[in-house]
Amino acid sequence: MATIRDVAAEAGVSRATVTRVLHEPDKVSPAKLAKVQAAIKKLGYRPNMLSQTFRSSSARTIVVLAPNLANPFFAQVIAGIVDASDELGYKILVGSTNNSSKREADYIKMVETRLADGIIQMAPFTEGEVSLLPREHVPAVSVAGVPGTPYPGVRIDNVAAVKECIQHLVSLGHTHIGAITGPANNSNTIVRLKGFKEGLEEAGLSYLPELVREGDFRLVSGFSATADFMLDSNPVRPTAIFCMNDEMALGAMRSLKTFNLRVPEDISIIGFDNLDFSAFASPALTTVEQPAYDMGRRSAALLVDMLEGRVGKADADIVLPYRLVERESTAVVHTRA
Ligand code: RIB
Repeated sequence: MATIRDVAAEAGVSRATVTRVLHEPDKVSPAKLAKVQAAIKKLGYRPNMLSQTFRSSSARTIVVLAPNLANPFFAQVIAGIVDASDELGYKILVGSTNNSSKREADYIKMVETRLADGIIQMAPFTEGEVSLLPREHVPAVSVAGVPGTPYPGVRIDNVAAVKECIQHLVSLGHTHIGAITGPANNSNTIVRLKGFKEGLEEAGLSYLPELVREGDFRLVSGFSATADFMLDSNPVRPTAIFCMNDEMALGAMRSLKTFNLRVPEDISIIGFDNLDFSAFASPALTTVEQPAYDMGRRSAALLVDMLEGRVGKADADIVLPYRLVERESTAVVHTRA
């Protein structure tokens, strides 16, 4: 384990300068700051900022990084994380990053300075998208992400789940299936789009980019994307829309009402997540259930196992079952809208 002395020697500065970088970085010259930060990174140094009196090997605190706390899906995941962590003797600190890398960096610093022990990352890791993780010396688990993240994860098989949605729509006779995606660079969008394309291909249908609109996983984007589908100028309109989450599906259903179109008689809508309110929507939403609460519980248990040395990083990637919940918003194709 690197010490403050090692960092000072590596950076060619005094120990006092290293301490200043950690506590009052604004009082250090940019050149020295850069040298010390590089040395900290190279050596994987984790300063312990807990006072001598309360020093312990673990803060027994987990930081949960949440991209969007307004999405009830994340609230369900957090509920699972909180319950499991509590049982395991850990406290939770929820960091709302709102996709800001500056905010994410601040929370990561809490682990580096041992004010927290590890991180549960709810924003999927994507090249170019926010995520300063992984860092070798920051224990982390991804939840509701995608395969291939450089740290262990708890997720469902998104590709298979979306393919099942498409099979369901195809079995109802739909051949013009639209999609409302999340942000293009979001890795959940990327894997769900893969499932969408594969599902169409397996059904012998062509992927038509004009039947796809980009949303942002929020209600309003589902509303506007659907309105855009309905423009008179569109040469082709969907008879069914696969929405990459329930929020956007709810927005889509509301939007169709403004066009006097009925769900499912005129257009079928299918969502993803199975939020609590989706069963109470009118019509009740057909959707994919992600076991959000269990995903939260399992991710907390996995991180604690890692922190307490019961599981290595390499052997942990948990894929939980999903379920297509068929309700009222999908039906046999009736007429081309
Ligand atoms: O981040 C947005 C979406 O990704 C959520 O609604 C949920 O589907 C998650 O997996």
